[in-house]
Amino acid sequence: MKDTQPRTIYLKDYRAPEYLVDRTELTFDLDPYATLVKSRLSVRRNPDANGTDTLPALWLDGVDLELLSIAIDGELLPAHRYTEKPGGLLLNVDKSAFVLEVQTRIAPEANTSLEGLYLSNGMYCTQCEAEGFRKITFYPDRPDVMSVFTTTIVAPANYPVLLSNGNKIDSGTTADGRLTVTWEDPFAKPSYLFALVAGDLQFVEDRFVTCSGREVTLQLYTEPKNIGKCEHAMTSLKHSMKWDEEVYGREYDLDIFMIVAVDHFNMGAMENKGLNIFNSACVLASPETATDAAFQRIEAIVAHEYFHNWSGNRVTCRDWFQLSLKEGFTVFRDAEFSADMNSRAVKRIEDVTVLRTAQFAEDAGPMAHPVRPDSYMEISNFYTLTVYEKGAEVVRMIHTILGADGFRRGSDLYFERHDGQAVTCEDFIVAMEDANGADLQQFRRWYSQAGTPVLDVEDTYDMETQEYRLTIRQHTPDSPGQVDKLPLHIPVSIALLGRSGSALPLDSSGEVERVLHVTETCQEFVFGNIPERPLPSLLRGFSAPVKLRYGYSVEQLLFLMRHDSDPFNQWDAGQRLAFDALSSLQQAYRNGTELELPESLIDGLSAVLENTRLDPALVAKMLALPSAQELTEQGGEIDAPAIIAARNFVRDGVAKTLKPQFRARYEALNVQKPYCPTASDIAERSLKNTCLSYLCATGDQEMLALAEAQLARDDNMTDSAAALAALVEFGPADKAQAHLDAFYRQWQQDTQVVETWFGLQSSSPTFGTLDRVRALMQHSAFEFKNPNKVRAVIGGFAMRNFAQFHAPDGSGYAFLAEQVIALDKLNPQIAARIVTPLTRWRKYRAEQSTQIQAALKTVRDSGELSRDLYEVVSKSLA
Ligand code: ARG
Ligand code: ZN
Repeated sequence: MKDTQPRTIYLKDYRAPEYLVDRTELTFDLDPYATLVKSRLSVRRNPDANGTDTLPALWLDGVDLELLSIAIDGELLPAHRYTEKPGGLLLNVDKSAFVLEVQTRIAPEANTSLEGLYLSNGMYCTQCEAEGFRKITFYPDRPDVMSVFTTTIVAPANYPVLLSNGNKIDSGTTADGRLTVTWEDPFAKPSYLFALVAGDLQFVEDRFVTCSGREVTLQLYTEPKNIGKCEHAMTSLKHSMKWDEEVYGREYDLDIFMIVAVDHFNMGAMENKGLNIFNSACVLASPETATDAAFQRIEAIVAHEYFHNWSGNRVTCRDWFQLSLKEGFTVFRDAEFSADMNSRAVKRIEDVTVLRTAQFAEDAGPMAHPVRPDSYMEISNFYTLTVYEKGAEVVRMIHTILGADGFRRGSDLYFERHDGQAVTCEDFIVAMEDANGADLQQFRRWYSQAGTPVLDVEDTYDMETQEYRLTIRQHTPDSPGQVDKLPLHIPVSIALLGRSGSALPLDSSGEVERVLHVTETCQEFVFGNIPERPLPSLLRGFSAPVKLRYGYSVEQLLFLMRHDSDPFNQWDAGQRLAFDALSSLQQAYRNGTELELPESLIDGLSAVLENTRLDPALVAKMLALPSAQELTEQGGEIDAPAIIAARNFVRDGVAKTLKPQFRARYEALNVQKPYCPTASDIAERSLKNTCLSYLCATGDQEMLALAEAQLARDDNMTDSAAALAALVEFGPADKAQAHLDAFYRQWQQDTQVVETWFGLQSSSPTFGTLDRVRALMQHSAFEFKNPNKVRAVIGGFAMRNFAQFHAPDGSGYAFLAEQVIALDKLNPQIAARIVTPLTRWRKYRAEQSTQIQAALKTVRDSGELSRDLYEVVSKSLA
């Protein structure tokens, strides 16, 4: 472990920057081991800094840089005028405005952290958010310093494509035959939005005419072999541009918008001004190579990054504690876009599933933090589900409270008032309040309190008075550093269902759905003129990110599955039924009693399966049992073997009992037609493949043959991957291996398919044993320096293969510890993320808990850790 502990940074210590940088002129002379970076900064004293008369020193962030020279107003600075410190440089300053010139040398080829300037398959690219720019040159690398950037790139002739932010203003050839291009971005921006790309790339081009009639050139750059996989992203981009004009009144502002696909990338994508950089897996697709899920993910991420142009770039964050200002808002925006483009209900179900499976766990774990954290050691560790997904839920609640029109008035005011500024979450809330005369005082607590609130709901009905009363109690559990939390303002959308299944009018206007504003610890809501005892449909559409408890009986849940007019709650009723059944079975497994199939659940699923009026995508979602990972969120000690036993028992029972129905629907949906990633076709494929998976779970030869036939047909990756996954999970291992080998031979040239192929094996609860995972790491296509490969193989095993990772001998935990230690030397961000499963040791039953904790201690004691990993490991063991 480190001798010197990394420093903790606190929100309360925020100070405005002492100096501003009006202009930033950069020149890059590219070379793998010795790239020369020259910067010329127009610096001036910030008039808004907490001023003293004497000029304070200027702090410039800088990491892994070789300093060659510093000059002020053309004069080289003698060594006594500056001090090199860990993490940067302190300059003595004797003028309130000056031109600072700095030359540094960096080695992109040696940069395996994938922050700053690095090489990916021979292509130069950058990732500067959050604090990567300091790995390029000395700079006040903080988002509240906004500057107009001009960038000149000089490169050998085998790098014909040279890109940066903004518009290309010059290009040519140097005397020695190298290429040079200059870009200028007229919009002032923080350094985290800087980008540079250089490579031998091809591009596809399209155009978009904005609402005011300006023509924008759209370009998507890739390695030549991927040029056929750009169409879907381009279409998604045009849809996003149109949607943002229609729904938010936001028009694009430069003449050109570029996207570049790179294979080595820590995250999904990055919204650099005018030059988005994407993980190849989040942008490249073709029907033969990409699944429906990939098509939808690409559409969502292209939209997300595009939407950042307003929510993030034009209006940016003052400091990194405000990250959710741009991320929560932008995730909300992209979720609504996806809902408009596809099935709204299914999108909501998918998002809530992620929230309940992973964000709730984060909120209950050692790294729990509010949507606006108040401290961090390493900001990269706070690009979390809490900041992104819970942050989006918080924005969604504002939308629910103010209504669509009120929310739009608020966002209009926010963009108008803060255009060109670096602002805070508070500014966002104030704009929402001011535009609507609303009071969000109590609502603000969602930004500062961590933890998932629990709502306990009880009801009574009085036949005499025809009054129905709902009593709602709220409680938010303690989390590290936060106890005794205050009540939140929680919008709870409800309806009351009558015996016939339709919703009863709640007042004389005939309104049948209402948002209850829960603001107190315990609160009662009274409804009059309710002619019969109703069944409440609560938290419709998941109107708040909470755990809601109400003592529904099995019959009531079956009734909601059948009749609730809110498709989200229809699905959720089925999930509750499954959760209850699976908990009882876990208990039975522990007691050693014989497991019995829950009849009611089978009945409910059977009715769903036969309901041809329901959207097939919703049927598929309703047929899916909660994942093992989701079952760990039930509360109480996690007993991995019991979860696995109970879930497998139910899955196999459902498969056997409903086999004829699964077969019938599979056959009906298994029609030959050309692949199209439309919502209705995607819906049909999802149900078809859900049926196929259950059919194969029976282990019947004849059913496995259906999967083999589907795999052989080979006309789209959704069907192929689903068939292969079913064969790998449920078929005999030797046959599975043969199918895997054949699949690899067919697709070995395609990076994205190979990633799918890796992930499918390492995450298979039957096939993905630790030995096979170790073998995959020896495969020629595996690359330890490529995050996608690491996520597919190691992440697939540790995060998506509950059964094998939790092998009773603890081998999975030891393996993960070993990989984390190795990864930390190359790429701290990835190491700090992939260690997550080990941080949850406290939640497991005694023996597993001890094993997991021991693995985590191995990591802690392995030597000097990166700041990223140190923060996660030390907080998890504290
Ligand atoms: N702003 C990017 C996005 O949400 C993510 C960048 C994350 N970078 C990082 N180093 N954690 O689209
Ligand atoms: Zn984002």
